[in-house]
This record gives sequence, structure tokens and C-alpha cells, in this order.
Amino acid sequence: MTTHGAGVLLKLGGELLEHAAGRRDVARAMHRLRDAGPLVVVHGGGREVDAEMAAKGIAKRAVDGLRLTDSDTLEVVVGVLAGRVNTRLVAAARVAGIPAVGLTAADAGVSPVRRADTYTAADGTQVDLGWVGKPVGTEAPVLVTRLCDAGFVPIIASIGADADGQLLNVNADTLAGHLAARLSVEQLLIAGGTAGVLDEHGDTITSITGGLLEQLVADGRASAGMVAKLIACREAHRGGVARVRIVSGKNTTNLDECPGTTVGGQ
Ligand SMILES: Nc1ncnc2c1ncn2[C@@H]1O[C@H](COP(=O)(O)OP(=O)(O)OP(=O)(O)O)[C@@H](O)[C@H]1O
Ligand SMILES: [Mg+2]
Repeated sequence: MTTHGAGVLLKLGGELLEHAAGRRDVARAMHRLRDAGPLVVVHGGGREVDAEMAAKGIAKRAVDGLRLTDSDTLEVVVGVLAGRVNTRLVAAARVAGIPAVGLTAADAGVSPVRRADTYTAADGTQVDLGWVGKPVGTEAPVLVTRLCDAGFVPIIASIGADADGQLLNVNADTLAGHLAARLSVEQLLIAGGTAGVLDEHGDTITSITGGLLEQLVADGRASAGMVAKLIACREAHRGGVARVRIVSGKNTTNLDECPGTTVGGQ
């Protein structure tokens, strides 16, 4: 990614990756995007984590889409995201002819991460998130850019490690927004299970500008995982990413044609 302002950071919601058919469609969509320029992928896997936690009898708690992560939860999150979900997606991408390389934010040259501060929720309450990390630092993610320059497609699971080697659970949208800004990509494309940000009638809000983002969070029209997504979009937009979109990635191999929401103009 030697050209400043080129390329796409694609964030894939876990809902798109649960089944082989979904992974195959996503891989084809990735192939199409990569034809147009460098591609970096960050993925979640929230629903598979939920299922694994339920199977192990671990209760789920989350605030604004951020998972409260105790030690047992962290074990599951690391195993599912950096293990099963990442490896399966890399394998599906390879089948589609994409030279994919699986990484986490704990790898050198991806993203420094430190334990998140106490979180102030949309409703104003203060929450200790546990073993949750936030991406920090402003230096370029040199491993990611070098892999892109060499023709590879990095596929990054949202697990990080702090300076002491403590593994931390990072929200995938948060990591995607941060990396998009640091890579100076042209577009942050967040693909998930809904046709972008929906209003109270279930219709897509096609564009979010001005103070609408804050209003949606404050009045509860955006909740749960959508709050983390919108905050990540704001970070990317403020960080200079020209095009920021939240789209549906379901049943498609062409993410450019998907219905969705543009955040921050254009
Ligand atoms: N206004 C809204 N429009 C659309 N979805 C919303 C809205 N408010 C809340 N949501 C919820 O946010 C969810 C998306 O966030 P979620 O974290 O669940 O998925 P994801 O980020 O795509 O996947 P992952 O966490 O695995 O990366 C939607 O499925 C929906 O339940
Ligand atoms: Mg999410």
C-alpha cells in the first residue's frame, strides 16, 4: 500500500462467516474488491463466540456492542476468532484465488493495543470491560503494508496483546476503523447482516452527516453492535478515510452494489 489513499479496508461481521456458503460468497466479493486495488480484511465472529460461550455455560454480557471479557470469556474469544473463524476465512479466500495471510493484532507491525479504560456507555454508566483492548499508536502498520505491497491480502482477527503480552479482546469494528485511518485507505467498507444503519421503521438510513451519528446513539435508534460500528466509522472519517460505508454483505459477491449507509459525506 505504497500509494497514500488507495485500497479498501473491508470489515466482515461474523454473521457472514458462519456457514461455508457465506464464506464462499464473501471470498468472491473480496476477489472483486482486490481487482481494484490493495485489500485488507478485519473480521469479527461475535455469534460463533456467543454459541461457544453458551455451550460452555459462560454468561454473555455486553455494553454498546462491547463484550465484557472475563478470563473465561477471553479464552473463548481468542480460540474462536484467532483460531476457527480466521483460519476458515483464510482457507475460503485461498479457494477463491486470493493470496490470503491470517494475522491478529498481536503480530508485529499490525496494531499496538492496550487495555481499554473504563467505558462510558451510551446511557452514561461507567463500565469496566475486563480484558478488552483498544488499538493505540499512530505509526503505520508496517507488516500490513508490506504484505499488501508483496501482493498478499492480510486477514486480521481482532485479538491484540499489550506490552506485557496479555491477550486482549478488541471489537472488530474498532480495530477496522483504527487501521483504516492508519493505513490511509480510500475506503472503509463494513459489511454485516443488516442493510446498513436502519431507522425506527427498519428502512436504511442512506447517509449520516452532521450530528446525526451522535443523535442515533443518544436516542437509542442505534444500539448494541451498531454503536461500536458508528464510533469506528467516525474515527475513520476523522482520520481522513474518504469513503466510509456500512453495508449488507449477505447473499452477494459484489459489495459495491449493496444497500447501505454512507457515514460522513460523499
Ligand atoms: N439502527 C440499527 N441498524 C442496524 N442494526 C442495528 C441498529 N441498532 C442496533 N443494531 C444491531 O447491531 C447489530 C450489528 O452489530 P453486531 O456486533 O451484532 O454485528 P457485526 O459487528 O456485524 O458482527 P461481529 O461483531 O461478529 O463483527 C445488528 O445485527 C443489529 O442487531
Ligand atoms: Mg460487532
